[in-house]
Amino acid sequence: MKVGFIGWRGMVGSVLMERMQAENDFADIEPVFFSTSNAGGKAPAVVDGVPPLKDAFDLDALKALDAIVTCQGGDYTTEVFGKLRDSGWKGYWIDAASTLRMADDAALVLDPVNLDVIKDSIAKGVKNYVGGNCTVSLMLMGLGGLFQNNLVEWATSMTYQAASGAGAQNMRELLNQMGGLRDSVASELEDPASAILDIDRKVAAAMRSDDFPTDQFGAPLAGSLLPFIDKQLDNRQSKEEWKGHVETNKILGRSDNPVPIDGLCVRIGSMRCHSQALTIKLNKDVPLDEIESMLAEANQWAKVVPNEREATLRDLTPTAVTGTLTVPVGRLRKMNMGSQYLSAFTVGDQLLWGAAEPLRRVLRILKE
Ligand code: HSE
Repeated sequence: MKVGFIGWRGMVGSVLMERMQAENDFADIEPVFFSTSNAGGKAPAVVDGVPPLKDAFDLDALKALDAIVTCQGGDYTTEVFGKLRDSGWKGYWIDAASTLRMADDAALVLDPVNLDVIKDSIAKGVKNYVGGNCTVSLMLMGLGGLFQNNLVEWATSMTYQAASGAGAQNMRELLNQMGGLRDSVASELEDPASAILDIDRKVAAAMRSDDFPTDQFGAPLAGSLLPFIDKQLDNRQSKEEWKGHVETNKILGRSDNPVPIDGLCVRIGSMRCHSQALTIKLNKDVPLDEIESMLAEANQWAKVVPNEREATLRDLTPTAVTGTLTVPVGRLRKMNMGSQYLSAFTVGDQLLWGAAEPLRRVLRILKE
């Protein structure tokens, strides 16, 4: 299988390359690397005999491929995908961007949760396979067991989303903001006798100052939070919140009979792990120990964290999870509203299961 890679140098693309090398995915494909700016340059030597970089806009070069994996972003998909299909190309298009997600001829991929939907799509001749929104994928990796057992009447997801979801430059800006705040009170912090309210006043002034670096986020995030992610829609949802319902149901293959999912998406100062607090209305009263078993057994990456303080602070944080494929789910309990109301909290690496991992895995499935 001749597979072209586009956008492999960016943040998601780099994580994809690392994971593919770690899993020896390049061993049984013929990789061809593309560039939007450096055609002819040296390609990464992931296996012997990789040709020099090809031009990512060269339709003839793209047409020679059996599959294309792109992490280049939505603008590239918009520019190239239609032209390539119009030219008669019948290969597999595997994409991290959101552009094609809701198209009827595209399947959303998260195989530990929807292998049946993926296999059904392959059988039907679907050629476009797209990774879901990171928050949606991470929620389903953690709570898939409840959906697979058809126990969810509705769910709300309140998110705590990492800087990485906004991009590499945003991660840098967050760190610059953090450093800027610390630097604004460096001398006061060295003096244990300095007044905390003076420190707080200076920090607030630093955050509000015109010099504070906010080009990427458009607002201070360090020491604060941003309760709006992605575009504003006419119905008062943010686009990120809209995706929660439509993409969850599409991944589960039940867009015709959707489970209502809604919530509020918030950017916080975490680096690359998205967290979510869920309220789930179950369609029947299921004992908590049965719920815990279902969640733990749903896939090998979901891990139930006992709802205890020490275990939660050790295992259910972005710090514990970052850079790993584990998706812990914890704080599980029935709520005051009644025995069918479940509270849960889950954390996942936004660049792994949230972006790169489903793509490398669907490439393997398509190759079978
Ligand atoms: N839209 C997500 C975010 C990125 O802003 O965090 C992952 O799809």
